[in-house]
Amino acid sequence: MLIALFPGDGIGPEIVAQAKRVLDALAIEGMTYEEGLVGGAAYKAAGHPLPPETLELAKRADAILFGAVGDPSCDSLERHLRPEQAILGLRKELGLFSNLRPAKVFPELAGESALKPEVAGAIDLLIVRETNGDVYFGEKGFRKTADGLREGYDIMSYNEAEVRRIAHSGFQAARARRGKLCSVDKANVLETSQLWRDVVIEVSADYPDVALSHMYVDNAAMQLVRDPGQFDVIVTGNLFGDILSDQASMCVGSIGMLASATLNGSGQGLYEPIHGSAPDIAGQGKANPLATVLSAAMMLRYSLGLNAEADRIEAAVAKALAGGARSPDLGGTMSTVEMGDAVLAALA
Ligand code: NAD
Ligand code: IPM
Ligand code: MN
Repeated sequence: MLIALFPGDGIGPEIVAQAKRVLDALAIEGMTYEEGLVGGAAYKAAGHPLPPETLELAKRADAILFGAVGDPSCDSLERHLRPEQAILGLRKELGLFSNLRPAKVFPELAGESALKPEVAGAIDLLIVRETNGDVYFGEKGFRKTADGLREGYDIMSYNEAEVRRIAHSGFQAARARRGKLCSVDKANVLETSQLWRDVVIEVSADYPDVALSHMYVDNAAMQLVRDPGQFDVIVTGNLFGDILSDQASMCVGSIGMLASATLNGSGQGLYEPIHGSAPDIAGQGKANPLATVLSAAMMLRYSLGLNAEADRIEAAVAKALAGGARSPDLGGTMSTVEMGDAVLAALA
């Protein structure tokens, strides 16, 4: 079992190091690691955010554990050289289209939520976000209007095959959970969303056991803070899923807590926290590594079939939190390494 480790930029190396310590503590037989350069770090060392050797390693690996990419010093590079192209390129090149972002409150963190504890306590949802299409990957550029004004454009589109496969991901996830799927779109305005909704309804015929509902994305953003307990699985497009998942993170306590898996249907997966490189706290030992630790658990479960080991990591995180482990984002003072120590102690 080969794990590709892509720490990336900012807090990426700090948080991936803690996840690696946790994996090491499990001493899983036959698990090997190779590290690769991504993001601004790769651009600075090799001239490209996703160098060919990195892509080759990613394709060869059974699973990828990814930190974060993004470096303010690269923000004025041409778009294809920016750090973010590393994660977009990996998703596209490996066909990683199904991004699972679970949000569940650890009971002892309900007080950290931006919501009232009793509202936060009811959250147990999964956002299934499409990550190979939408406005992210359409034609884009700059042009001049007839009046000579500068104009930027990004074309939003989904074809029916793209919607169908993510709809299946959503229905299957709902079937394995509480049997409720809410498809989030903007069909009242966007043709892309009308096609999305039509195809989701077609696919629903295969899942009579799943209760399907539809919600406009603006309402979904509101409902996520009003009554997040109503959601089981949310399936949505790339852009809406990006935004709603950051919002969901604060509903459960911190963006430093939300893990993700991005799957391509062949068992291979990329595992990463939903947050970014957090340049504002990078190098200060302030980053919460738990989203990355929990992403490693998802990796064991979804790509390596190691369910018992995944359960052990999740139980250790819960125990560490119950024992009072708190990084600054959770209202505490523990460093990134001390948070890792707490998980290791709970694992022992
Ligand atoms: P961000 O998620 O990096 O940070 C937002 C805020 O949350 C910051 O205040 C940060 O300090 C805090 N935060 C994030 N992760 C944390 C953690 N683990 N512990 C404690 N606090 C945490 O979002 P941003 O500031 O909008 O973006 C910074 C860079 O990251 C940008 O270059 C962006 O493109 C990139 N980014 C990358 C990914 C990815 O690699 N998948 C995801 C999101 C953003
Ligand atoms: C995420 C990030 C990425 C996205 C960026 C860095 C390209 O925000 O993984 O959520 O928008 O998908
Ligand atoms: Mn995001």
